[in-house]
Order: sequence, then structure tokens, then C-alpha cells
Amino acid sequence: MKVLVTGGAGFIGSHIVDLLIKNNYEVCIIDDLSHGNIDNINSKAKFYKYNIKSSNLINIFKIEKPEVIIHEAAKISVSDSIKYPIKDAETNIIGTLNVLEAARKTNIKKIIYSSSSAVFGKAEYFPIDENHPLNTISNYGVSKQASENYLKVYKELYGLNYIILRYSNVYGPRQKSSGESGVIPIFCMKILKDKSPFIYGDGNQTRDFIYVKDVARANLLSIQNNLSGIFNVSSNKSISINQLFKYISSILNKNISPIYKRKINGDIENSLISYKKIFNELGWKPKYTILEGLKETIEFYKKR
Ligand SMILES: NC(=O)c1ccc[n+]([C@@H]2O[C@H](COP(=O)([O-])OP(=O)(O)OC[C@H]3O[C@@H](n4cnc5c(N)ncnc54)[C@H](O)[C@@H]3O)[C@@H](O)[C@H]2O)c1
Repeated sequence: MKVLVTGGAGFIGSHIVDLLIKNNYEVCIIDDLSHGNIDNINSKAKFYKYNIKSSNLINIFKIEKPEVIIHEAAKISVSDSIKYPIKDAETNIIGTLNVLEAARKTNIKKIIYSSSSAVFGKAEYFPIDENHPLNTISNYGVSKQASENYLKVYKELYGLNYIILRYSNVYGPRQKSSGESGVIPIFCMKILKDKSPFIYGDGNQTRDFIYVKDVARANLLSIQNNLSGIFNVSSNKSISINQLFKYISSILNKNISPIYKRKINGDIENSLISYKKIFNELGWKPKYTILEGLKETIEFYKKR
């Protein structure tokens, strides 16, 4: 089966491509390299340096004739989306719509879309399940939610099957120290250089981190069945930023103190996302504990 992965030169997309190729899928990638890295691209994948907003996007679909699309390409910075909402929407809404139009016109069977727990915003209860109200507090969250809505309507109108995966905070090798959950690469890089990283607020705020290889496996399972629907992809475990700092310091065997700074406005306090639905329907659950994932991640940053 041939799979087209948008954003396949990026952090998560490149791990998905690697896993697909390992499982004997034929893979082509569309990425404009605006945030991705050419070194992330698997040599067995066909690569198009292309913008998903291009009016010629459909030509690649016509040439490659993929059966499934995994759509990862996006602007991922929440803070940029707040500063430049139009830029965010141009890629995350119009770009996604352009992908959907190309998919519909070339009779693609199914699309897997990378959404985000950012659509939930301020939590009303924990753990957050797929039925939790969508109270997003960022333009990025709005753009992810808008794309989700288009996918639902495209299924109704044109029969395009979809799976929406709402990732919690993804981490692992190849992640840049910017973006949605850059805290782990920032901590690793700083502590490796014997520098103190900043912690915003008192560090007791919690996050639900999920290892990138587990996220890639959720995408693989999503193309191996006939379901349509929305699924959280998370660890269902929350860890405080202080605890995370301690784990990374102890794996690196360093004794450094963080510098505490004022809390960032609009930062959510706690996050804990349930993966019960994807476990029940697709049999997915994370394989990596946070310590196992951190050890692999740290090995990657040590080599850089
Ligand atoms: N990293 C996380 O914690 C996280 C959490 C939830 C959801 N997500 C979603 O997962 C997806 C992948 O995120 P990531 O962390 O790997 O980010 P990333 O920036 O590493 O990957 C995105 C890729 O898309 C490419 N891209 C951006 N705009 C493009 C355009 N107009 N045309 C073609 N390519 C374009 C970039 O060059 C990059 O390679 C995104 O949709 C993101 O919103 C990420």
C-alpha cells in the first residue's frame, strides 16, 4: 500500500515514515522544509519539497496515487499562532483544506489527521476524554479544531474516511527545542551544556507526555483498520515540570538548579488525557514509560 505523509521531514512525521517503511509500506513525503529537516527523511521514501498550500498540490496526488494520507504538516507553535493568527490559519486551515480537496478529487480512501489536545483548552475534568468540551484558548487550537470539523463534513459530503488523532505533548529524538512541547529538548540541551534551564511558574504544573514512537504506532494502526473517528493519543499519566527536570538531570548525572521565571500567560495548569478509547477500539496503548523514552531521547541529544 502507498501512503503519502505530509510533514514527513518533521519530528513526528519522520518517525511515522520510518515505521511505515519498516512495515513494508511504500511512502512518499510532501514537506516544504520550513520547520523540518532534510536529514530526517528516510532514504527509501520519495520526497517532494512542496508547500501544502500550493494550487498544484493535486498533481502529486495524481502522480503518486496513494491510498492513504497521513497529514502531519502544520505550523506547530502556539505562541506564534497568538502573534500571527493568519499565518497559522493559512497553513493549518487552508493548507489542510487544500490537502482534503486533493484527496477528495483523487478518490483517496482515508486520511489520518494529527490534531492536538490543544483543542480541549482549560480542563473541566480529568482525565480528559474525547467527549470533553472543546474550550481551546489559542488560535492554534482553533485551527486544529477547524480542520477536525472539515474532516467530519468531508466524510458526510464525499465519503472520505478519517481518523483524527489528538496527541498530548509528544517528545523524542529529532524534536526541535521550539514548538508545542519543546521543554524536553530545551532541558536536555541546556543541562548537557551545564547551563540552568528556565522553568516558568513554580514548576508544579503538569503535562501528559507521550513518546514519539508510540505516536507513530498509533498512526500505523489507524491505517490498518476501517474505522473512522476521533482518538486521544496520550500516556494518561501526568508529570510535573519539576519532576521532569529531576528525571533528565538524574539520567544525565548532573546537579544543576533551574531558574524559576514568571508564569506564562495563557499556559494551562494541568494536563491529563485518557487513551481508553483508542485502547478499546484499536488496541493501542503506550509501550514506553517516561523514563525509557527520556533515556532514548537523551542519547539522541548527546550525539548532536
Ligand atoms: N509535537 C507535539 O507535541 C504535537 C502535539 C500535538 C499535535 N501535534 C501535531 O503533529 C503534527 C506534527 O508536528 P511536529 O511536532 O512533528 O512538528 P514539525 O514542525 O517537526 O513537523 C511539521 C512539518 O510540516 C512541515 N510544514 C509546515 N508547513 C508546511 C507547508 N505549508 N507545506 C508543507 N510542509 C509544511 C514542516 O517543514 C515540518 O517538517 C502537527 O500537525 C502538529 O500540530 C504535535
